[in-house]
Amino acid sequence: KYADTLEILGDKYHTDEITNVTPSILSKIPLQVHKQTGHPLNTLRSIIESHYPDFSHFSSFNPLVTPFKNFDELAFPKDHPGRSVTDSYYIHKNLMLRTHTSAHEVEVFSKGEDKWLLTADVYRRDEIDGSHYPVFHQMEGARLYSADASGMKQVEEDNERLSRHLKMSNIIIEDIPHISPTNPVQRTHDPVHSELVAKNLKLSLNSLLLRLFGSTASEEPLRVRWIEAYFPFTSPSFEVEVFFRGKWLEILGCGVVIQSTLDISNVEGKIGWAFGLGLERIAMILYSIPDIRLFWSTDERFLSQFKDGEITTFKPYSKFPSCFKDVSFWNAQGSAPLHDNDFCDLVRDVAGDLVEDVKMIDSFVHPKTNRSSSCYRINYRSMDRSLSNEEVNELQKSVVTRLTDLFRVEIR
Ligand code: PHE
Repeated sequence: KYADTLEILGDKYHTDEITNVTPSILSKIPLQVHKQTGHPLNTLRSIIESHYPDFSHFSSFNPLVTPFKNFDELAFPKDHPGRSVTDSYYIHKNLMLRTHTSAHEVEVFSKGEDKWLLTADVYRRDEIDGSHYPVFHQMEGARLYSADASGMKQVEEDNERLSRHLKMSNIIIEDIPHISPTNPVQRTHDPVHSELVAKNLKLSLNSLLLRLFGSTASEEPLRVRWIEAYFPFTSPSFEVEVFFRGKWLEILGCGVVIQSTLDISNVEGKIGWAFGLGLERIAMILYSIPDIRLFWSTDERFLSQFKDGEITTFKPYSKFPSCFKDVSFWNAQGSAPLHDNDFCDLVRDVAGDLVEDVKMIDSFVHPKTNRSSSCYRINYRSMDRSLSNEEVNELQKSVVTRLTDLFRVEIR
């Protein structure tokens, strides 16, 4: 199924029995759309960077990392589901595509950086629809303070300054306690320090969200809500949602950095926070971009609508017709049903961005033979043009051929 070596960004890597990156995924690695002048993701990145002018800004880290870096340095348990080949892309056992920008926390903290932002493409195996794409972009931010009286004095000063700014603004914040029994302070932290740092994190992000969303809300105040969360590498941990066009949207995850991550980075006597936000999610809201595939479009009707540094409303060009195709099959005798993510990667690899949506519409187990059956509905639609019947039939034929070749299923 795989060649013995894969070439990625000019270097060769061996494959093994768990290799699962597809050519379609690999083709995205060199594109770096978050650094293309005028691209909406690049503009959003630079707006966020300008909100943190005294932070170091990174955006060129290699997407290939060891599972140790992606998970272990961040205190993920050995059996965390994110490590599985169904959720993440592996080049081989010891090399994967980062699933989040947190994978670089130790690397950056180790350089002695105390305030920094890092933007990067991240990779996760997932379903296919208008708001999920296996490659997307995150921005990680972190801020460390000295865990002593002078450091805490600085946090308090920063907090006062940020509070003053927010008080005068049109924003409603639904807050929760900085620390609670279910969202605890770390054992090695002074609770007073942790409270102050968590408060600083919240103020800092409320102020960023006001900068990003405040102007689109016109007279309506911006509504932000804080929710208790869990991440292996922060405690206390939070998620933030923003109320936009009648819905609460999850925007980011964050928390007080777990001490073991700072220990591995050889950082001593410090305490701080980190956040990770999804750029596409925010950009889709701010620019009214309806489909996540558009961020990869090279169509002038898309790209020409954006000006570097400006947030403008995207005007969708005409929507082309959908073409639905179903495929039903019996899974191989005695084996587990094909994983949704395996099916989606196969379709993405055949059809690229001509696939808009994939849904499992039926699954059952035959009562006598015990064989399982699955049925998927694929929605083929180009964003740029009308697809011909012949073209879609060819794509569907390839999907069916690959299904039977790779997964030994029996088409019904
Ligand atoms: N890396 C987390 C994610 O991708 C987000 C996060 C970053 C949470 C930093 C806490 C601190 O979901």
